[in-house]
Amino acid sequence: MTDSRIATARLGSTGPEVGVQGLGCMGMSFAYGPSDAGESRATLERALELGVTLYDTADAYGAGENEKFLSPFFKAHRDEVVIATKFALAIDPDDPTKRIIRNDTPYIRQCIEASLKRLDVDAIDLYYMHRRDVNVPIEETVGVMAELVREGKVKHLGLSEVTATELRAAHAVHPIAAVQSEWSLFSRDIEPKVIPAARDLDVAVVPYSPLGRGFLTGSFAKAEDLTSDDFRRQQPRFTGDNAAANAALLDPIRTVAEAHGASLGQIALAWVQQQAALHGLPVIPIPGTRKPTRVEENAAATRIVLGEQDMELLEPIAAKVAGDRYADMRFASAGRE
Ligand SMILES: NC(=O)c1ccc[n+]([C@@H]2O[C@H](COP(=O)([O-])OP(=O)(O)OC[C@H]3O[C@@H](n4cnc5c(N)ncnc54)[C@H](OP(=O)(O)O)[C@@H]3O)[C@@H](O)[C@H]2O)c1
Repeated sequence: MTDSRIATARLGSTGPEVGVQGLGCMGMSFAYGPSDAGESRATLERALELGVTLYDTADAYGAGENEKFLSPFFKAHRDEVVIATKFALAIDPDDPTKRIIRNDTPYIRQCIEASLKRLDVDAIDLYYMHRRDVNVPIEETVGVMAELVREGKVKHLGLSEVTATELRAAHAVHPIAAVQSEWSLFSRDIEPKVIPAARDLDVAVVPYSPLGRGFLTGSFAKAEDLTSDDFRRQQPRFTGDNAAANAALLDPIRTVAEAHGASLGQIALAWVQQQAALHGLPVIPIPGTRKPTRVEENAAATRIVLGEQDMELLEPIAAKVAGDRYADMRFASAGRE
């Protein structure tokens, strides 16, 4: 282990030790415009060299394409990587451009087999319920997920975008290693309830979109500059008057970045990382990037420690953000809490 490797944290009381920052792989196949496969592969390799071991994908990212793309990398480094994938976002049979949420047993059974096949591995290290289908009791869903653990198809269980009540109910059925939710300087709705529940239950928190889907890096100018297939073109925080209002919120981040000789994105990541000490639980953000130099920059942020004054400057930002997290808020847990 060299000095350049990042620190580690435990993925909940039952989970493995992983690099304290993971890598979000979604953008390599989906959501943020065209990708260069060679550059994405180089990003994966560079991340591993830096001690990033938790790799995040989902069956829904590019309708299975992301899992297939990652498979050769995972196979080449099977003992060094922790593979996280997810089920629950199905294609709407009435409109293939839309997604529906499914947590029923036959669907989960179908999804696990398809993910194992695409990834070409015997077992998935961390299997998440991507979204909660309110028509299925969470105990039933986690019951099926627990069967997958007993069958050796899955090693640890995770839940994404769940409420504190749902997390507690699920954990009573089978230990949950990680809860994955959006958490960043722009999105702090999990702090009042989900975070205390995770701490009580010894569940790790895996913040997704810790860079506010790129907004917090300061590299986003206007939605019209994004490619037509970029999902942010439809996202409330990136469009219309909201985009300009939110850009103005980056000023305090800029001030802190200058004081630390860091980039805006690094301050955003350092802030998320610092929540671990503040709340007393493991926090393993999964910033997404497809560029080796950016993975270096992001990993280096794990070494930045923000002072009290920095935290005070950054504190008011989230309350001023214009626009919801999603255009369709069925995909956020906040409304169910
Ligand atoms: N559970 C869920 O429902 C859910 C939802 C969304 C995402 N996720 C997971 O979370 C991961 C991360 O979230 P995210 O990708 O949505 O958002 P994010 O990590 O907040 O931001 C990703 C965006 O920031 C850019 N970026 C990354 N590092 C940068 C840097 N150092 N400087 C400038 N720009 C930088 C990326 O561009 P490049 O790629 O071009 O570098 C990309 O456009 C995803 O990959 C996915 O695995 C989960």
